[in-house]
Amino acid sequence: MTNFIDLKDLTKDQLIDLISLSLQWKKNTCDKFMIDKNVVLIFEKPSLRTRISFEVGINQLGGKSHLLNEKEMQLGERETVEDTARVLERYADMVIIRCFGHNQLIKYANISNVPVINALTDYSHPCQVVADLITIKEHLKDFENLKVSWFGDCNNVLQSWIEASGLLNFELNIACPEGIKPNKEIISWALKRNNNISITHNPHKAAEGAHCIITDTWRSMGDQNPFPEHKFMPFQVNKKIMELANKNAIFMHCLPAYRNKEVSSEVLEGSQSVIFDEAENRLHAQKAIMHFCIHK
Ligand code: CP
Repeated sequence: MTNFIDLKDLTKDQLIDLISLSLQWKKNTCDKFMIDKNVVLIFEKPSLRTRISFEVGINQLGGKSHLLNEKEMQLGERETVEDTARVLERYADMVIIRCFGHNQLIKYANISNVPVINALTDYSHPCQVVADLITIKEHLKDFENLKVSWFGDCNNVLQSWIEASGLLNFELNIACPEGIKPNKEIISWALKRNNNISITHNPHKAAEGAHCIITDTWRSMGDQNPFPEHKFMPFQVNKKIMELANKNAIFMHCLPAYRNKEVSSEVLEGSQSVIFDEAENRLHAQKAIMHFCIHK
């Protein structure tokens, strides 16, 4: 039994096994290893993909899900995080948390005697990136000699991408406006494992020859002090960016997307876009992640 908090907590082999198991269960029915198991979902923030893919996944595995939404639960508000964890472990076999503060999640996981899964915090979104890696494996086959380029905000999804590049050693180019940068500690953690990570303010340079072009919304959920939108505009993924990339490049976005902001409609709806495969793969990833937590 273990938690699933951040990708950097995994070994390279564990991450590769998660990707393989997800793909295996995408093709073949999976074992119902969650019969008689109850899973509580604490969602302090809205969600379409993460929440429903977990709930459907739990159902397909034979378990039952119980949702506490943002109106019913804000960690640490009505009672302490520790008391919440000590109560819920008396009912539930696993707890999946989407919350604001990563520290709240860590506090919860440290006290919980049942596995805790990070369904997004302000710091990271590891479940999303497992699904993204599955999508890359399906469309591009391998991580060897892979060039991934990220455009726009330095947010929680990028944080998990940096961790993935540290584990799997693919090239990661981050194109972002001056004035924002990825988390310094995670960059130095990843660079010790993979020196093929770079940060640039030149979006065209980042796009050249890339196999996978990724962006995300410029304004994360609950962001009270957004970076000015006009400074992101040169980092929009559009036809020009896709033309600079490898001719077989794929475009990925974890959704929800804002058309003609971080990505042009043309690219989002174009033939290189794999956004709905990515969304589907959330389901296959969640089942493999829950299996990892219960069987480790
Ligand atoms: N990509 C993602 O996490 O989607 P939701 O916010 O809808 O869960």
